[in-house]
Amino acid sequence: MRLDVYLTADEIAGAATGRVVAVIDVLRASTTIAVALDSGARAVIPFADTDEMITRSKQFERETVLLTGERKMLPLRGFDLGNSPREFTPEAVAGKTVLLSTTNGTRAILASQGARDIVVASYVNWTAVTAMLRAALRAGTDIAIVCAGTDGHFALEDAACAGRYVRSVTRRLSGVALNDAAHACSLLAHNYGEQVGRVLIDSVHGRALADAGFREDLSVCAAVDSHPVVPVFTDRQITKLGPERER
Ligand code: MLT
Repeated sequence: MRLDVYLTADEIAGAATGRVVAVIDVLRASTTIAVALDSGARAVIPFADTDEMITRSKQFERETVLLTGERKMLPLRGFDLGNSPREFTPEAVAGKTVLLSTTNGTRAILASQGARDIVVASYVNWTAVTAMLRAALRAGTDIAIVCAGTDGHFALEDAACAGRYVRSVTRRLSGVALNDAAHACSLLAHNYGEQVGRVLIDSVHGRALADAGFREDLSVCAAVDSHPVVPVFTDRQITKLGPERER
């Protein structure tokens, strides 16, 4: 059995086949997706491109969908919501289909297509996703954890979160082979321990978000297990794994 970490979305191309893939964009897309589903959104549909998203939105009754996302951290003009998890309240999203396009996170999810299963992981749904990944590993399925990164580069917050998953998913399991990135991320997570908020404020993107007025988002994104859902991407949409979709 293998558990490999890929430090940018570009690295997953061709490596996802047959694996369970966990995609991490702690700041903020994977957190926002977990919050949206926990708040009762019917589904989240990820798009790399905003034009494609607008075209697709026309297939829905306007009041049933929300156009959401960001470029350079800010909401897009004319859209209903940005990419701050604090916007994705039950009042805003319950029963709606959320169309989401972000700079790195939604691209990483789409780059993982071809995997056996794709799950969206973050700190806010850590225990729930850990349980799902452990079950897959125990059943003999290889795992890949993909860090969305920032504009094709390493992102501290995604790597530290990936390392926390490496440690929890492999705990007391023998015979799991790790790649070098998984080892490195595990050491990083060990170094920070429970100081998740510290990871986020140490990161370049965390500081950029704080400077752009989104400091409170960092606390939401660092709140381990606050949104215990398992978001699964199948048939072009992300929905919450529930009793009807347990596998
Ligand atoms: C992304 O996908 O690049 C991020 O979620 C950016 C953000 O902080 O909104």
